[in-house]
Amino acid sequence: MPAASEVRCDVKNIGLADMGRNRIDWANQSMKVLQLIRQEFSRTKPLKGIRMSACLHVTSETANLAITLREGGADVVLCASNPLSTQDDVAACLVRDYSIPVFAIKGEDNDTYYQHMNAALDHNPQITMDDGADLVTTLLTKHQAKAENVIGGTEETTTGVIRLRAMAKQGVLRYPVIAVNDAMTKHMFDNRYGTGQSTIDGVVRCTNVLLAGSKFIVAGYGWCGRGLAMRARGMGADVIVTEIDPTRALEAVMDGFRVMPMHEAAKIGDVFVTVTGNKNVIARQHFEVMKDGAIISNSGHFNVEIDIPALDSMSVSKRTTREFVEEFSLKDGRKINLLGEGRLINLAAAEGHPASVMDMSFANQALAAEYLVKNRGKLEKRVYPVPEDQDRRVAKLKLESMAVNIDKLTPQQEEYLASWSEGT
Ligand SMILES: NC(=O)c1ccc[n+]([C@@H]2O[C@H](COP(=O)([O-])OP(=O)(O)OC[C@H]3O[C@@H](n4cnc5c(N)ncnc54)[C@H](O)[C@@H]3O)[C@@H](O)[C@H]2O)c1
Repeated sequence: MPAASEVRCDVKNIGLADMGRNRIDWANQSMKVLQLIRQEFSRTKPLKGIRMSACLHVTSETANLAITLREGGADVVLCASNPLSTQDDVAACLVRDYSIPVFAIKGEDNDTYYQHMNAALDHNPQITMDDGADLVTTLLTKHQAKAENVIGGTEETTTGVIRLRAMAKQGVLRYPVIAVNDAMTKHMFDNRYGTGQSTIDGVVRCTNVLLAGSKFIVAGYGWCGRGLAMRARGMGADVIVTEIDPTRALEAVMDGFRVMPMHEAAKIGDVFVTVTGNKNVIARQHFEVMKDGAIISNSGHFNVEIDIPALDSMSVSKRTTREFVEEFSLKDGRKINLLGEGRLINLAAAEGHPASVMDMSFANQALAAEYLVKNRGKLEKRVYPVPEDQDRRVAKLKLESMAVNIDKLTPQQEEYLASWSEGT
């Protein structure tokens, strides 16, 4: 292992490493499935000598993934998948104690964000690991020659999978990518329970707003939106959902939420959170009718869900009133509070998902990397689902780690389920 001083990196302050170590250890305690995979990887070394560039939120959970990949023999470098989501102490610890090159500083500007991504690509990866598909996009647009060396990639989030499918459809995707997000043991738990809880955490940490009795608007009733609406209701909020998909809207209605278009919700909401993966979901016409003091935030992947340039152009002034809270004063005297620059609020103002849910997401990431190496040269240049047996294995291991036992099919039941002739 090279000395920390020899490790390529751009982190805020290496002196923060002790605190980062505590956080990484704390997260590790709740990541039992990843621990098992790490033990297996350290015996079997499935990623031996493989160069990997990972563009993920640099958090304590991601650190445990990076350590697992390294244990499996990979040569890993890490850069941030969002300018505001890095935990600087964790980044410092990975460099100092694990000699893992990290390029990430919380609050970095857009240019630095892309410089860091380029630094991760200088590693000439054989596997890319993305959260939002910025790494693969940068590789395919600015470093095309590097695609030749890539065995495959993995993608963590809904928005990234959508972008990758668009690339595959247009024939520009140059290597196979596994859609980790689409594993049941990822989106059903991480997006729903992880985003649900941590988004509330982010909103409350930076505002200290009382949710009980507030009108809480959730834009988008997908996996994240369902979790968020459920948790906001649990805190006593009057939750209103906005949607564009009739089935999802119907589901929200039957789950007991009021559903209405954003132009109506905008007039009554106290707290707004967008989780759609779409752009300009809250826009000028909505700011025009919002109540004085409305709080607006986003937990979707990119900071385009709220039309911040429109809000800026409608404002006479703005000031930072608390950390991660920017108050925009409108020409008519109303004030609107934007949280975390419109970036995913659970990572900007809180700590992202709890480790025990990232355990499953990152178990899937590690196993997907192993799968890519095992199937090197056999996969096409398209987006693949996580293999079903991998998904079931992660669920089984998670249940075991929680000491939850379930029933097994009896031979008679197996026969019954496999036959079509038995009716009454
Ligand atoms: N904050 C986090 O940590 C975190 C975690 C996981 C996913 N994400 C991101 O959150 C976003 C949502 O992910 P998901 O898994 O819930 O996706 P999803 O596809 O399950 O749900 C998105 C929902 O938004 C709806 N929608 C689209 N445009 C809309 C609009 N204009 N108004 C209202 N609703 C609209 C869609 O109909 C859909 O039901 C993505 O960008 C994803 O990458 C964030």
